[in-house]
Amino acid sequence: MSPDLPTELKAALEARLHGLSRTDAAERAARISRTYRDGGGSGAIRSETDALAYALARMPATYAAVTASLNALREVRPDFVPKNLLDVGAGPGTATWAAAEAFSSLRDFDLLDTNNALRALALDLAADGTRLSGINYRHGEARAALADTASADLVVASYMIGEISEAERSELAGLLWAKTRDTLLIVEPGTPAGYARIIALRAQLIAAGAHVAAPCPHNGKCPLFPPDWCHFAQRLPRSRAHKQIKGAELPFEDEKFSYLALTRAPRARHPARVLAQPAATKIEVTAKLCTAHGLVMAKVPHRAKADYARAKRWRWGDAVIEES
Ligand SMILES: C[S@@+](CC[C@H](N)C(=O)[O-])C[C@H]1O[C@@H](n2cnc3c(N)ncnc32)[C@H](O)[C@@H]1O
Repeated sequence: MSPDLPTELKAALEARLHGLSRTDAAERAARISRTYRDGGGSGAIRSETDALAYALARMPATYAAVTASLNALREVRPDFVPKNLLDVGAGPGTATWAAAEAFSSLRDFDLLDTNNALRALALDLAADGTRLSGINYRHGEARAALADTASADLVVASYMIGEISEAERSELAGLLWAKTRDTLLIVEPGTPAGYARIIALRAQLIAAGAHVAAPCPHNGKCPLFPPDWCHFAQRLPRSRAHKQIKGAELPFEDEKFSYLALTRAPRARHPARVLAQPAATKIEVTAKLCTAHGLVMAKVPHRAKADYARAKRWRWGDAVIEES
């Protein structure tokens, strides 16, 4: 699945750009992003124009991160055919668009968010989509609203748990898991703080019976220690409007993210995960792998022709080498 926004979504966003001052939108996007950097949340997004500016600046990157996480999930769970989705802290509907692209089996889409401006934009954008015109998007605080929300085969919280206080997070994690019939996907910024939130939730939900589908090949303790942390990067193209809103020159950006996919049933496959971009020389490929037996610096020598050729194609984030 491509990290680029689906054509329908791109067209819907571009259509809403007409009549919008790019300078004003860029200023709003910069103010919102400053708020996030300073530890604030989506409360800075108050109006229709704020919501659109945020979506133009950030939706391509969060979409790319969710897509990369869903690709990893589908690789280890090719048999997963979810019928319904629950997107918590859905914002402009980013994860819903990504999940609809990943799973043609999805029929029902439930979304939930406290932010009315983002909810209105999501409904507006979805009305232009063939699959998403009938989404059900509730306005409400996640922990309160989840109590009377139906469970779903796939539950997603993308770039959301960082906006919940630490004290409330474990209650939210329990509720998200209670609403998960099959798989729960959490995606966070690929910072040490984002990883720390994921790893805390991972321990809590494994203790409650969850199994890790991706990225980890095991349910054991994470073998990484500070200053190291588990994160990945997804390159995505920047459209002209995206570059203007961000005041950027480069035609692409790399979104760093951390993620966790948890399932109710233990999975059959346990491929190792490539944790950084491997180094390939004419002598060998060196790759940092998280395996079912711990962290390994794999060295694949050139003389092992077939293995070397395979290892040269390994990329950061790939699932490689089957383990039992
Ligand atoms: C950074 S945005 C991410 C939006 C979207 N999931 C994405 O990946 O693009 C975080 C979203 O979580 C929502 N949110 C934060 N705290 C929430 C809560 N307690 N209940 C419901 N939604 C919440 C915000 O309103 C915002 O829309």
